[in-house]
Amino acid sequence: MNIILLGPPGAGKGTQARILVEERGMVQLSTGDMLREARSSGTEMGKRVAEVMDRGELVTDEIVIGLIREKLETAEAPGGFIFDGFPRTLAQADALGALLEEEGQKLDAVIEMQVDDEALVQRITARSTCATCGEVYNDITKPIPADGKCAKCGGTEFARRADDNEESLRTRLFAYYKQTAPLIGYYYCKGLLRPVNAMGEIEEVATEIRGILDGLA
Ligand code: AP5
Ligand code: ZN
Repeated sequence: MNIILLGPPGAGKGTQARILVEERGMVQLSTGDMLREARSSGTEMGKRVAEVMDRGELVTDEIVIGLIREKLETAEAPGGFIFDGFPRTLAQADALGALLEEEGQKLDAVIEMQVDDEALVQRITARSTCATCGEVYNDITKPIPADGKCAKCGGTEFARRADDNEESLRTRLFAYYKQTAPLIGYYYCKGLLRPVNAMGEIEEVATEIRGILDGLA
């Protein structure tokens, strides 16, 4: 089963993707994570995209489609793929459809994570991530355990993202409404859209997504 998690920055796409990976053995393909990896390893592409990402703008379609193509051609995913933060433009959506077809695969559902804009600022500015395993925390809704150790891996270093400030978030949100939100209509017309109320607690949202995926299986 291949699914897309679609939603604005801070909707909880990464958080839910990690739950699905653990529970269903699916493979998470996050273009945001891939781009951050490229920049921290100092590749030419990483250097080129760093400023764009920090401003909160979208990286070119060519770069992200290239990253996804490479993964789809090489990664083994018997449980299917979770596309997290991809596609983000209509061109990316068309490209994904073509790539999956080439691989003899299809898209099963697009989970649209609906959140009020006001909640996003609070979620993003309070976020931190375990530097060792990538587990996502939130100062308010999912605090780092009191002993200062990651609940998943015991790591003690936590990072905040360079684009997790109010100014970049405004640009990211604008990019979402201008370039990504049209995908809601695109996938509705394909009969794949499954809206989820992502304002609930993390476990409540996970339960709603489980229900949708179980209904498809
Ligand atoms: P990317 O890394 O994809 O960031 P994003 O879309 O802005 O999404 P986030 O990772 O910020 O949020 P999320 O929805 O995963 O939320 P999370 O689970 O962490 O992209 C970064 C940049 O890379 C882009 O701006 C762009 O420059 C570039 N890029 C990436 N993909 C691209 C593409 N395809 N094309 C072009 N450019 C691309 O949760 C957020 C916080 O809320 C956490 O603290 C979490 O603990 C908390 N939380 C989660 N769920 C809940 C809940 N239900 N209740 C309360 N708190 C919650
Ligand atoms: Zn960890």
